[in-house]
Amino acid sequence: MTGTSKAVRYDEFGGIEVLRVDEVERPVPGDGQVLVRVKAAGINPGEAAIRAGAMAHIFPSTFPSGQGSDLAGIVAEVGAGADSCSVGDEVIGFSEKRSSQAELVVVDADKLTPKPREVSWEVAGGLYVAGAAAWGAVHSVRPDKGETVVVSAAAGGVGSLAVQLARRAGATVIGLAGAHNHAWLRGHGVIAVEYGDGVLDRIKAAAPDGVDAFIDTHGGGYVELALALGVPVERIDTIADFAAAARYGVLTEPGPNARPGAEVLAALAALIAEGHLEVPIANTYPLAQVRQAYTELERRHTHGKIVLAP
Ligand SMILES: NC(=O)c1ccc[n+]([C@@H]2O[C@H](COP(=O)([O-])OP(=O)(O)OC[C@H]3O[C@@H](n4cnc5c(N)ncnc54)[C@H](OP(=O)(O)O)[C@@H]3O)[C@@H](O)[C@H]2O)c1
Repeated sequence: MTGTSKAVRYDEFGGIEVLRVDEVERPVPGDGQVLVRVKAAGINPGEAAIRAGAMAHIFPSTFPSGQGSDLAGIVAEVGAGADSCSVGDEVIGFSEKRSSQAELVVVDADKLTPKPREVSWEVAGGLYVAGAAAWGAVHSVRPDKGETVVVSAAAGGVGSLAVQLARRAGATVIGLAGAHNHAWLRGHGVIAVEYGDGVLDRIKAAAPDGVDAFIDTHGGGYVELALALGVPVERIDTIADFAAAARYGVLTEPGPNARPGAEVLAALAALIAEGHLEVPIANTYPLAQVRQAYTELERRHTHGKIVLAP
């Protein structure tokens, strides 16, 4: 099949203004790949950092660049050998080619998992990056029953999932968030604590027996805060502050080489379908409003996920 479809593109590093939606050639699935008609594609701060050129030393770019990892959609075409998929399947997945923010995207079949009927398109499409990060971070610090875990940016894309997964492991969870997110956190069994001046004392008051583990999903001083609370380095994980991680030897799971795959996506989707995990959706934008979507994201006060709906 030939023709064109719409996809997010940019030609140079820069601010939100470099983003545009282009008509591109319809992609063709190769061996082991399928073509997915995208119903929803989540957006993430890492994409903004890559677009700004801030991560070119780790993740180099070629131009024109596409954008996006998260996706959920309907299989439109199956390449040779992609026998696990059929046309019409509803799937959740991820692209490692910065290409998911598009009407049509080619994906390796092994990076897809079936979308349970109970999981909405928005939630499915925003699940991979934040879900894999939350899953990897929580598993790396191994929270246990009777322990206390602190999570920074506890109501954000990654944090909102990390607090719920740590609670499911049986730990007491303290979530650092602005006051506007405290009711949501309390509703999920999390002790809500405001960040900012005096946060160390507020955490100590909320955890009189001490803090066993710390998951930093924000950066900018939370690794130092965890150390000041007496948390051992092997039970501190940051997904955002790699300079502090290198300085102090704390964990950075899931690192680029240990990123969870489709099996974790399937486990997360099952938890959502069974009502054990909530992915808050802050907003959904049409693909044409990709700039507005990143404008909201880059204010860095999103509760849960922002999703594009091509
Ligand atoms: N290594 C990886 O695999 C990986 C994967 C995904 C994301 N990340 C990184 O992890 C970070 C978080 O990603 P995300 O998608 O969760 O971002 P996000 O959804 O944009 O995070 C927004 C949250 O940050 C909170 N926040 C803002 N200022 C804060 C502060 N000073 N202290 C504590 N919380 C604050 C906000 O809280 P309030 O609204 O309550 O103020 C909001 O809930 C980003 O740096 C991202 O690049 C890494």
